[in-house]
Formats: sequence, structure tokens, C-alpha cells
Amino acid sequence: MISAPEFRLACSDAVTWLRALPSGSVDLVATDPPYESLEKHRAIGTTTRLKHSKASSNDWFDIFPNSRFEELFGEVWRVLKKDTHFYLYCDAETMFAAKPIAEKVGFKFWKPIVWDKKRIGMGYHYRARYELILFFEKGKRKLNDLGIPDIIEAPRIHGGYPTEKPVEVSEVLVQQSSQLGEMVVDPFMGSGSVGVASVRRGRNFLGNDLCAEAVTIAGGRLLAEGAREGRTQTHAHDSGAHAEQLLLAGAE
Ligand SMILES: C[S@@+](CC[C@H](N)C(=O)[O-])C[C@H]1O[C@@H](n2cnc3c(N)ncnc32)[C@H](O)[C@@H]1O
Repeated sequence: MISAPEFRLACSDAVTWLRALPSGSVDLVATDPPYESLEKHRAIGTTTRLKHSKASSNDWFDIFPNSRFEELFGEVWRVLKKDTHFYLYCDAETMFAAKPIAEKVGFKFWKPIVWDKKRIGMGYHYRARYELILFFEKGKRKLNDLGIPDIIEAPRIHGGYPTEKPVEVSEVLVQQSSQLGEMVVDPFMGSGSVGVASVRRGRNFLGNDLCAEAVTIAGGRLLAEGAREGRTQTHAHDSGAHAEQLLLAGAE
């Protein structure tokens, strides 16, 4: 009998948390950091929905500055096994900053994948209907299905966690770039949509967020999916050891 996917969650800074994970231990990273470009949208009032996040005691979660991309991508590179993929949810503006830095730490950039939200949203010039997901590779790994298009259609989420991504979009990434029982990691997991996608596809999941409420929300969603929970981690130091245990458990 195949056992239920397992997950472990932590509440820490993404880079600090990744530093505690063993090198070459992870099969896939898919993540969605809060970019500094969000600040610009907030300044011109196009993202007012996010000002009153019910998911945070702050009005808004902290942004992750572009100046930290190199340390972040360096850690993502280190924790990934060889021959793996890395997906970075991204807006068009941040793509130009993120791509060369990810290449500098060693990733091959393949292409942006488009998440088509199917209906127009906010915007000053052309109204926004899509977001991007940058597709990077460490070493060489074939996608599981070469017939999948580079546009993924899924309606945006209304009234959920701030900037919550549809599970269906992450399910495509997980299905394409990992195998049953492998380990997926999201260091900025928010409400845990990458985690939910992972367990729906029979993968194990390690997730982290700086916001304690996000960790609670993500944990609830993962349990509701039937995943088994390890001990929730709150210290980066612990998380490495527990990740190792979970990774070892996954290998048995
Ligand atoms: C764009 S949201 C992720 C949304 C997620 N993809 C979802 O579907 O719910 C970014 C998350 O990063 C978290 N965050 C901000 N700064 C962080 C940091 N330095 N380390 C870890 N998480 C951080 C925020 O609390 C927020 O939940």
C-alpha cells in the first residue's frame, strides 16, 4: 500500500531556513516570493485588496528585496539534487532582475511559463491577465510530459490568502518535474498551494513562511488533503535536522 504523502512546515526567513537543509536533498523547488515590485503596485493603489490581509497581523506581508536574490537562488541551487527543476513565480518586471542572478548561481533558464488567469484584472496600461513562472534547470532533467503547453489556464483566486496561487497551476509544475514520493520545497509557501499540489500528486512537501498565520493555514490545508504531518518546525536549526529525517523517511 502506498502511504500518504508527508509534510513538515517551518516559520522562518526563507534563506535562513534553506541554509539548514542538507545539500542535494530536494527534488523540486517551486516558490512565489513577495517581490519588491509589489511595493510599486501598492504605491499606485492597484493592489488594495492586499492591504487588509486576513492572513497576517500586519496589513501586508514583508517584501523580499531583489538584493537578496543571489543568496536565495544560491541556497535553492545547493539544496536541489543534480538534474532537477526550479520554478519561480514572477511578474514581468522582476523577471528581468531574477533571471541573470539565477543564471549566475548556475541555473539554466529555459523559458517563462504563462499563468493565464482567463479574465482581466487591474492595470494602468494594458489590464493584467497573466503572471509568469520562470522555468530553471540544474543539470539535465526531462519533463515528464513533453506535450504540455507553456500557457497554463486557471482563474485567479478571489478572497483567499494575499496573492494566493491556484493549486491547479502548481500541480502542472509538480507533475512535470518530479516523481511520486519525491520531495518538493517551497520556502515562501503562504497558504501552501504548492504543498497542496504536491500532496495531491503523491509527493512529500517541506514548506516555510515568515508569517506564523500562513504556517497555520497551510498546515490545515495539507491535513485536509490527507497528508501526514511531521513536527512543525519553528527554528531554522531544527528544520535541517527534521528535513533530513523526513528525507530519510521518504527514501525508505
Ligand atoms: C506571494 S506570498 C506566497 C503565496 C503562496 N504562493 C500562496 O499560494 O498562498 C509570499 C509569502 O512570503 C512570505 N514571506 C515574506 N518574506 C519572507 C521571508 N523573508 N522568508 C520567508 N517567507 C517570507 C509572506 O509571509 C507570504 O506568505
